[in-house]
Amino acid sequence: MLSREEFIKESLETNLFFQRIIKEHLYFYETSIAPFANDLILEASQLKMSLETLLDETINYAKGALSGNAIQASDFITAHTLQAEEANMKLTGVPVNTGITKNELSLESTLIPDYTDTLENAVIEINRKAYALLTDAIAYKNKLMTQALECKVFVCVYPEMLSHNLREEEHYLEILKALQEKTLPNNTVSDELKFWNHIMKDHAEFVDGMLDPTEKVLKQTAATTAKGFEMLVQESIQAANESQVVQKSTESTKNIRDYKHNTIVGLINCNIKSIIPPLLADHVLREANHYLKLLDKMKNS
Ligand SMILES: [Fe+2]
Ligand SMILES: [Fe+2]
Repeated sequence: MLSREEFIKESLETNLFFQRIIKEHLYFYETSIAPFANDLILEASQLKMSLETLLDETINYAKGALSGNAIQASDFITAHTLQAEEANMKLTGVPVNTGITKNELSLESTLIPDYTDTLENAVIEINRKAYALLTDAIAYKNKLMTQALECKVFVCVYPEMLSHNLREEEHYLEILKALQEKTLPNNTVSDELKFWNHIMKDHAEFVDGMLDPTEKVLKQTAATTAKGFEMLVQESIQAANESQVVQKSTESTKNIRDYKHNTIVGLINCNIKSIIPPLLADHVLREANHYLKLLDKMKNS
């Protein structure tokens, strides 16, 4: 059973990371579905806006309730998020609420946070709203995936990326379910390693597939990185030496983090030829930062 302080911190950190992730998944569909399917575009847009409202509310409650370490992990936003949002808006004409990102940039830690029962009740309500919206987002994703696989809608997102996003959403749902019971999911270290190494492998494959064929060096690095994470997934399942897998995963994730960082800078400066939306590059960078935060916790537990 989590204490009130643990419950508030775990809930806020989880929501700050995942709410932005889920609203961006929706934004990527909104900007990638062919205009013909305007009902699907509108539905993605409305769900995205509902999540934006909730994220803004979560940020306001998180002010003064988080540790400096939580904020410095750069999994809520990075130094490039705002720029990536602005670039994506300019390229697609589809709006992103950058006011939320500006609000989040002012998120600061407090030396002596006050974990009151009023804050606890507000956080319970945020978890409840997040659960409801996430359930809608998952239903939407399943509908989109079915239509895409039946060739009834054209969407410039790989089917494998749709199922990758779905796995992230189901992972978030599992955490929210546990938080509603004031606990955390009963996952082993091996489960977490397997899940996140698989996510990192997918990212490397997606980047490889979305780079222009002439970007040979970048593509080669992405392909090698994907192979490395594929091996780490196998090692995570075997879990013969867990601490060694944690160490190897940390090294590989730091490498892919640096690669993603260079990709976002290259995209913003228009130095890389690809079909990667700038915000997607920042999105996967945040997911690597989040995994590094979890690996750090694994090392210290
Ligand atoms: Fe994602
Ligand atoms: Fe991802």
